[in-house]
Amino acid sequence: MAPTTAFDAPPTPARILVVGGGGRENALGWALARCPGVEQVLVAPGNGGTADLAGCVQLSIAETDHQALAEACRLRAIDLVVVGPEAPLAAGLADRLRQEGVAVFGPGADGALLEASKRWAKELMQEAGVPTARYWAAADRRQALEILERHGRPLVVKADGLAAGKGVTVAESLEECRRAIEEVFAGRFQSGGSGGEAAAPSLVLEERLHGPEVSVFALTDGRGMVLLPPAQDHKRIGEGDTGPNTGGMGAYAPAPLLDAAGLEQVRRLVLEPVLAALRRRGIDYRGVIFAGLMLTEAGPRVIEFNCRFGDPECETLMPLLGPELASVLLACATGRLEAAPPLSIEPRCSACVIAAAEGYPGEVRRGDPIHAELGAGPALQLFHAGSRRGEDGRVVTAGGRVLAVVAQAGDFDTAFAQAYAALGQVAFEGMTFRRDIGHQVRTRLPVPRP
Ligand code: AMP
Ligand code: GLY
Repeated sequence: MAPTTAFDAPPTPARILVVGGGGRENALGWALARCPGVEQVLVAPGNGGTADLAGCVQLSIAETDHQALAEACRLRAIDLVVVGPEAPLAAGLADRLRQEGVAVFGPGADGALLEASKRWAKELMQEAGVPTARYWAAADRRQALEILERHGRPLVVKADGLAAGKGVTVAESLEECRRAIEEVFAGRFQSGGSGGEAAAPSLVLEERLHGPEVSVFALTDGRGMVLLPPAQDHKRIGEGDTGPNTGGMGAYAPAPLLDAAGLEQVRRLVLEPVLAALRRRGIDYRGVIFAGLMLTEAGPRVIEFNCRFGDPECETLMPLLGPELASVLLACATGRLEAAPPLSIEPRCSACVIAAAEGYPGEVRRGDPIHAELGAGPALQLFHAGSRRGEDGRVVTAGGRVLAVVAQAGDFDTAFAQAYAALGQVAFEGMTFRRDIGHQVRTRLPVPRP
């Protein structure tokens, strides 16, 4: 990478390390490898698909091994690290790499609190005047039950700390709320706390909001920001948005729910105030802010912030982003977004369907060979998530969400038709998927299953 002066545009990073092993990191690796000027993308630890991506190399280093990741950056002259998942960010990976002079796209442990502590995020939102549900924080069981009884109606129960999307109960009855509170204080959602240490359980009780949900992503260098097209994912396992919550069974973008004016409103009401509040706390946030919004009758409300790209929103969005992506992420990492080239965004519809393993979101079967014969063209991608390459070289299932099939077209009906046709070329024992992904934007829908 050539040195620059303060007046130059940020250069393109030649060698990029993507940290993580899911569908999101596969999509990031693919999108970055196709940016002109990027010579090599390394993915650690990657999955069964990342080694086969053109221009990508897989490193078998766990995302928890900060020491080995720092060494890899030094040995391989990495210009930019892009951290995919929240756990290594909350555990301070970005801080560690920055101490060694590496440019990192992803906040430090302080900024990652936006996702790692619901309570901290709520306090920040309140301080910043960001529209969100009213809430009450409770540090023990008795206090939580008292708040609930005083309220007299069901509240949303949210365990503090990272809970891999499983710490939230949207209860229909007071009894269900009480049970959820007992579960939190029984330590069911303890994941090691926001800083890696095992913190005492605590929770946030929130008033319940109503409306469609949409995901908004801001790439930021701590001051400026670039907004990506809004996306909508499908959290429930079952068709018709029924059954248990998952990480996301599919997504589409741009979500027409939020037009250009709506997105501007979100920038003004949510993202700019949050960035300003982070700066007031001395937090230099460089990475992506993911605002999970509910569009209520009274306007957009923040349901949650995440400090990373959504999965499968990332798989859905990456194919729409232009060749400036690598330079823009480096500019965010180095605090120079104002000098970056504008990020071009293809005005197309992107459709993503997840193929999951039998049993997901519960215990899943693993180790089944994956057969995928897609001729992935410029408007069709197959990203691997829960897969791995076995000793015999075959790629087998290794997790709940196994693959993401993504297609782009001029309209959503065509994009989804292409994604589902491609999914027909994919098979593994016990493969399950929803046939109604994007039902909000499709005019042709399958007949519901009995
Ligand atoms: P979270 O982990 O905070 O994204 O919450 C998971 C899901 O719970 C969200 O995607 C919403 O569907 C739902 N949820 C969270 N908070 C609320 C709320 N205050 N009102 C209604 N639904 C909520
Ligand atoms: N798809 C939602 C998430 O990544 O949290």
